[in-house]
Amino acid sequence: MEWLVFIVLAGFGLWRALVPTGRRPQWVTWAVLASALLAGGGAWGWNVQRVKLVSDEEFVQTRLPHTGRPGGYVSSDGCLACHTRRYQSWRRSFHRTMTQFARPDTVRGQFDHTVLKLDGKTYTLSRDGENFMVELEDTESGGGVSDGTAEAGASRVVSRVGMLTGSHHMQVYWIPSRPGNLQRDLPFTYLFDDHRWVPLRDTFLRDPNIRGTPDKWNFDCMECHTTAGVPGEDRAEGTLDTSLGEMGIGCESCHGPGEEHENANHNPLRRYVLRLSGKGDPTIVNPARLPPKLASQVCGQCHGIKYYGNMKEYLEQGEDFRPGRDLSPGIHILQPTRAAADPNVANLLRRQPDLLAGRYWPDGKERVSGRDYNALIDSPCYQRGEISCLSCHSMHESSPTNQVRAGMEGNQACTQCHQQFENNLAAHTHHDPQSSGSLCYNCHMPYTTYGLLKAIRSHFVENPSVATTVNTGRPNGCNICHLDRSLGWTDGHLTAWYGVKPAALTDEQRNISAAVLWALRGDAGQRALAAWYMGWEPARRASGERWLTPYLAQLLTDPYSAVRYIAGHSLQRMPGFQNFAFDFIGSPQEREGARLRALEAWQQAGLPDRTGAAILISPRGDLQDNAVTNLLQQRDNLSMDLKE
Ligand code: HEC
Ligand code: HEC
Ligand code: HEC
Ligand code: HEC
Ligand code: HEC
Ligand code: HEC
Ligand code: HEC
Ligand code: HEC
Repeated sequence: MEWLVFIVLAGFGLWRALVPTGRRPQWVTWAVLASALLAGGGAWGWNVQRVKLVSDEEFVQTRLPHTGRPGGYVSSDGCLACHTRRYQSWRRSFHRTMTQFARPDTVRGQFDHTVLKLDGKTYTLSRDGENFMVELEDTESGGGVSDGTAEAGASRVVSRVGMLTGSHHMQVYWIPSRPGNLQRDLPFTYLFDDHRWVPLRDTFLRDPNIRGTPDKWNFDCMECHTTAGVPGEDRAEGTLDTSLGEMGIGCESCHGPGEEHENANHNPLRRYVLRLSGKGDPTIVNPARLPPKLASQVCGQCHGIKYYGNMKEYLEQGEDFRPGRDLSPGIHILQPTRAAADPNVANLLRRQPDLLAGRYWPDGKERVSGRDYNALIDSPCYQRGEISCLSCHSMHESSPTNQVRAGMEGNQACTQCHQQFENNLAAHTHHDPQSSGSLCYNCHMPYTTYGLLKAIRSHFVENPSVATTVNTGRPNGCNICHLDRSLGWTDGHLTAWYGVKPAALTDEQRNISAAVLWALRGDAGQRALAAWYMGWEPARRASGERWLTPYLAQLLTDPYSAVRYIAGHSLQRMPGFQNFAFDFIGSPQEREGARLRALEAWQQAGLPDRTGAAILISPRGDLQDNAVTNLLQQRDNLSMDLKE
């Protein structure tokens, strides 16, 4: 804004100097003065707004993690002046808004007149001007979530929400605690799609008998949710002073600290020479110029399952990783399939084998969201080729959702390297080229990863294989779309079409739909995926949909809340079920009631769109109850806790 005023006034001065007085019309002078006034007013208004946002400097500086870590971080606003377009594309991204201070323009949860109850505690949410408050009343233990101002006795604590996590699917809220600026979670999450609060623990795929421990943001989440966080823990003194480069995931997370670069480019001559040369600038990291493996590590620092080599050092000073460097030795990526190759990791796992719990399939392949780097590095295209996250993603030339590089939503993502499949696609896929069954991703990067209450594309590039499904339980590309078909059916086609060796199958695997088996007999992770497939548009096109109703109805009573959540949403996508009422965290009686209501509606709707022995539905449209009950009794009740 200030610049605009300057340019207008300078132009005006020049004009006055160059054009003789007699030829200068009066209206130009007035127009210039008016626009200068407007621009100045705008700049002033902008500043006023900025001042208002940080009006609570003291709360922010003493109770919340604060900016100003050492190491040359200037924050994203420092880049705006010279990189407006990149700044704008970043501004739209979910990276920027991952972690934010709680303010009226960032909080999406309903705080007005909201009373939430959990485990004998009552949480009353409210607004106090620009602030978001939580009053905790503990009728059981008299304890509190924080050390906020105590009111009316020891069992009532009022706290102000300091910050929040997430802006895409859900929001988690943090309450200042002790020591120092420690942040503890409010045990409720606000789900955007559902416009409601739910207990945080019900947003995970977690055995209801496992009591999760409350999260501490500074230790459990910050390392991947902000720019260059430093926990700042002093164990000896018992103090904590967490600082960071920037609240959200800013430019410097991917480009490295920018101070040197900014200073160097204050020289306009350098700027023009660099721009014209097109050679780049050695004072800052451009991931696109890095060798592919180093480029992926820029993302892998957060999109990976990681562990610090020297935890004490990390807790005191933060990570020593910087974009452009190798993650090791400071950060170990815990990928069991590659542990043998890295003695550090092998040693670590020998001491703490439980680090591997809850994140991998039995063959060691990654299965949880946000850890895409672990999956990619297992892929043949990575191990024998030059694939990187940037082969398919762009941080500046993409839509904010999924950030897939323009043009890489389809087969070009693969044919950029595997050109032999560009022409004559159907010869390889055996599907019509326009079919969803001809999209490379669907067969080779199927939705077998779980997280954020949904299925996510696996980032491990693999071939559809019945043997793998049998050995690991991981669904294959064919059966996640052909829900009415058995593994035996898939096996036959893989053999006939691709010459794959037939797999050894049980009678059930040979004859009954794989999706039905996952839904009834699978473990909780498989049941969640099956419930999601049953709502997935391409699968419904290929497999029919109405027949899925009794299976989704069954999953409404699953012991795991995440499975019930997904089943409820898939059911609501069924014709005639758009307004089907279901509360995934309602009482067991309510859930059973919902199951019966769904079954009744299904029976009244007449003959289903598919019948047959594979899906346990007789030609007259009756569900074979005995067979269903029999499979249900074999349900894999393995206790699971899939960690995001
Ligand atoms: C190892 C890095 C890492 C750690 C540690 C981590 N996360 Fe995440 N988190 C991610 C990534 C990456 C995503 C994006 C996943 C996606 O979109 O598929 C994510 C996504 C999320 C989301 C969804 C946000 C949205 O906008 O919908 C929430 C909520 C979340 N994380 C909460 C947490 C909490 C709470 C903690 C600490 C207890 C935590 N995470 C720890 C990397 C991490
Ligand atoms: C999450 C990681 C990430 C963040 C955050 C990010 N960038 Fe980038 N940036 C990249 C990657 C990766 C590339 C390489 C090209 C691409 O993928 O779009 C890039 C490319 C660039 C380029 C070079 C473009 C070119 O012509 O090659 C500039 C300049 C840039 N970013 C500036 C910024 C600025 C300024 C910000 C913050 C306002 C920012 N970036 C935030 C990852 C990021
Ligand atoms: C004073 C102006 C100025 C500021 C401030 C500035 N840059 Fe740059 N930046 C440049 C110039 C000039 C170039 C080189 C020409 C070009 O690529 O546009 C450049 C290039 C880059 C590149 C590409 C480098 C390459 O090798 O391809 C990235 C990435 C980048 N800047 C990121 C940032 C980030 C992140 C910030 C904020 C921390 C920032 N810049 C702040 C002027 C600036
Ligand atoms: C500092 C940690 C960090 C770095 C570095 C980082 N990410 Fe992320 N990324 C996250 C977190 C946290 C989220 C969750 C944000 C959300 O979705 O609200 C996320 C979300 C995403 C998403 C999903 C966006 C959505 O919600 O649809 C994609 C895609 C992604 N990142 C790709 C990348 C790629 C590619 C790189 C490397 C160029 C990268 N990220 C670098 C932490 C990081
Ligand atoms: C950056 C280049 C690149 C991209 C992008 C890429 N690949 Fe690859 N891929 C390779 C290379 C190189 C190999 C190893 C080939 C070899 O050893 O002969 C490979 C191997 C494979 C293999 C194993 C082949 C075998 O004979 O074992 C499959 C399957 C595969 N890729 C599928 C895909 C699919 C599907 C995609 C898109 C989702 C994809 N690739 C994207 C480079 C790439
Ligand atoms: C071969 C192409 C390809 C490569 C390589 C790739 N991705 Fe993706 N990624 C995709 C596609 C396509 C999607 C969108 C999937 C969808 O539509 O559901 C996606 C989605 C994501 C998401 C969002 C998942 C969700 O649904 O919440 C994240 C996060 C992500 N990728 C991170 C990464 C990271 C980090 C890397 C590098 C380690 C990477 N990706 C490499 C193609 C790729
Ligand atoms: C209908 C599912 C399906 C689709 C779609 C599909 N593939 Fe495949 N692909 C397979 C199967 C099955 C195999 C072989 C399995 C085996 O040999 O074990 C295979 C093998 C491969 C191989 C390794 C063997 C070879 O022939 O070189 C590559 C590379 C590959 N596919 C790439 C792609 C690419 C690229 C696309 C998209 C253009 C694609 N596939 C689409 C099912 C599919
Ligand atoms: C994302 C969805 C999708 C995936 C993945 C997929 N298909 Fe299909 N498939 C379809 C659709 C849709 C049709 C209907 C005809 C068409 O579009 O080509 C079809 C038709 C077929 C047919 C002929 C009709 C029938 O039911 O007998 C066979 C056989 C078949 N697919 C086998 C496979 C095998 C084997 C795989 C894995 C290698 C596979 N499909 C992967 C969607 C898919």
